[in-house]
Amino acid sequence: MTTLAQRDILGIADLSATELKNILELAVHLKQGKRLSVSQKVLGLLFYKASTRTRVSFSVAMYQLGGQVIDLNPSLTQVGRGESLVDTARVLGRYLDILAVRTYKQEDLETFANHAEIPIINALTDLEHPCQILADLLTIKENLNSLSDITVTYLGDGNNVAHSLILGGALMGMKIRIATPNGYQPNIQIVEKAKELAVDGFEIMITNDPIKAAKDAQVLYTDVWTSMGQENLATSRIPLFEPYQVNETLLNYADKEVIVLHCLPAHRGEEITDTVIEGKHSRVWEQAENRMHAQKALIVSLLGVNN
Ligand code: CP
Ligand code: NVA
Repeated sequence: MTTLAQRDILGIADLSATELKNILELAVHLKQGKRLSVSQKVLGLLFYKASTRTRVSFSVAMYQLGGQVIDLNPSLTQVGRGESLVDTARVLGRYLDILAVRTYKQEDLETFANHAEIPIINALTDLEHPCQILADLLTIKENLNSLSDITVTYLGDGNNVAHSLILGGALMGMKIRIATPNGYQPNIQIVEKAKELAVDGFEIMITNDPIKAAKDAQVLYTDVWTSMGQENLATSRIPLFEPYQVNETLLNYADKEVIVLHCLPAHRGEEITDTVIEGKHSRVWEQAENRMHAQKALIVSLLGVNN
């Protein structure tokens, strides 16, 4: 079993393909009841953006592993009053065993990683959402019995979730298709990085055509059209994104056994219809549950207690 002890996970590609596979395998065992302990260890959660799934799944994962969690609400800590990230990171690194940070800029996360002598986990930035992709890959594997050669189509904004999906897909040799409106394509540096680290089988399609992207796809995946921090742009985006809605018409182009994923929270009637999210192809609730199992595997691996 891989030991990732003391690694920072600032993006999904901070894991090698083998390490990612091992984490997913461990997550399966933990979900089946394997017991591991991080007794006496403390996880800090420093979240500058709202969160339900990430906050609660990390907290429950840690409690079930016998550890503790401290919620470092920025508005109740000095960092919210302007104490520098460097000073905050240095100090937190001396109390905590592991820290998950949800923030805007990837550079801020890197500052934490550079100055705290403990593993730092990206709990979502504007650039990436690696913990989400761990759960997504676990859900795909459970449902389709494989990751390599699976065609996953993501429709919507080519930002954080799409970026981690592209990189995770590259590590697992998947066929990733990203359909976005013009101007919302994924970051080209992420796409280039994915091509560099890809294993055999990886293919990437980036298109403006949702039907071409959805054709025979085994997974359809969507996310909100307006991410946290961009709310002032929400109304103007709706007409641009409407052709990318995951609805029954789009499902007809996909593989007949297609599974539908959404990282949540969902805006029903925008990026996904009620009928689809509640329908027989939807796996979004299993996907949300898998956040907890996947993050448990990540925590124990980073703390070096994974066997
Ligand atoms: N998918 C996800 O990260 O959800 P939260 O924003 O609720 O944590
Ligand atoms: N792209 C979304 C993901 C939410 C989990 C956001 O950043 O708000």
